Amino acid sequence: MASKIAVIGTGYVGLTTGACLAHMGHDVVCADIDEAKVDALNSGEIPILEDGLENLVVEGRRAGRLRFVVGAANAVGDREFVYLCVPTPQGDDGSADLSYIEAAAREIGPVLAPEAIVINKSTVPVGSTRVVEHALQRGDVSVVSNPEFLREGSAVHDFLNPDRVVIGAVDQAAAIRMAGLYIGLTAPIMVTDPASAETIKYASNAFLATKISFVNAVAAVCEAVGADVNDVVLGMGYDRRIGQEFLKPGPGWGGSCFPKDTVALVHIAEQAGYDFRLLKGVVDVNNEQFERVVRKVVAAVGGDVAGRHIAAWGLTFKARTDDTRMSPAIEVIKRLQALGAEVTAYDPAIRMDIEGITVAPDAITACKGAELLMVLTEWDEFKWVDLDEVGQQMTNRRLVDTRNLLDRSRAQVSGFEYQGIGRS
Ligand code: UGA
Repeated sequence: MASKIAVIGTGYVGLTTGACLAHMGHDVVCADIDEAKVDALNSGEIPILEDGLENLVVEGRRAGRLRFVVGAANAVGDREFVYLCVPTPQGDDGSADLSYIEAAAREIGPVLAPEAIVINKSTVPVGSTRVVEHALQRGDVSVVSNPEFLREGSAVHDFLNPDRVVIGAVDQAAAIRMAGLYIGLTAPIMVTDPASAETIKYASNAFLATKISFVNAVAAVCEAVGADVNDVVLGMGYDRRIGQEFLKPGPGWGGSCFPKDTVALVHIAEQAGYDFRLLKGVVDVNNEQFERVVRKVVAAVGGDVAGRHIAAWGLTFKARTDDTRMSPAIEVIKRLQALGAEVTAYDPAIRMDIEGITVAPDAITACKGAELLMVLTEWDEFKWVDLDEVGQQMTNRRLVDTRNLLDRSRAQVSGFEYQGIGRS
């Protein structure tokens, strides 16, 4: 049955949630405080690169099931369900900053429809459901936690084909009403208490980050003992208890979620009296990974990068997104720049210079005059670039492939000194 829904916040989570719920037949109003963004969305412009999202927004608007308005209070008056999808940035002490959530809840409290359900989709510390309840000041309104598990770049796919839907609620009737929104999705719907739902979100991201730090640490061992991490991961992954996913070595993990959520969980645990040393180690290994890549590049050019021209392919924190927040690629480039390197980058999703980094219009141009090429993001198109042509642009054919993306033997045939991650 179609429901009336409001979504507060049109970042990639809010916009994907709104567009997908409209696609599933619900009547959705999305609100944002940014007037220019709302205008753009109302004229069909999508502010982020997200596979399939534009089509759903166009479809929803055409069908009259998706609208955008300025201001949370203007969206909620007749809505049965209100999703909070506002940012929870990292505060100074590592904890999540709840000020946006609280402000949104205070704003909508007086104008919510009777017996509405407010759904927390933002990643929030354990106990935040109560914070929202308190800010709403509405005894008739239930607050439910419904964490998101959407990867940037495949957020639409992940919303419509979830591995699970988690609902954390004290009010069981609200949980059942809420579960009704997801009828049609073939995923287990798990109802639990709010604290467990909130913990599931942090623990999931922290575990995924742990897998990657683990494989990056194994890659370091592989380099030391002469093993090949690609084969090691393949061999491990055949064990169904381990699996192949999220075990790709790289320059370290980044983005708008893992860095803040891992630190936040360490903080949540600390506040509760538990020293989460394992997760602290995961974060440390990640910071070391940036430095390991830098050291690899420095060593490859003979020990000093000052004044040396280096090309970088990839700036976004991973492929298929235009998001550069907490990007490992940018972290590595900045560290090299700090050592005096002159870096020219290319990224299919980035058209202008960014954070003091010169951006070239294409992959070949970025390599002009460079004596080393780094592959930092796993964009497919890098695999198809003609390495002979690349080599002709460069003063030296050296390649540091931090995603093990390119074909090593092909690179060697084109005369490149190839180094990957975890491959001797
Ligand atoms: C992550 C989670 O995967 C989502 O489930 C979650 O909903 C989201 O955070 C969130 O909390 O909002 P996302 O930040 O889009 O999604 O990125 P991921 O695809 O998880 O990748 C994170 C980082 O790990 C990237 O830097 C990526 O390059 C790196 N990574 C990922 C690896 O180095 N190796 C891998 O095998 C996988």
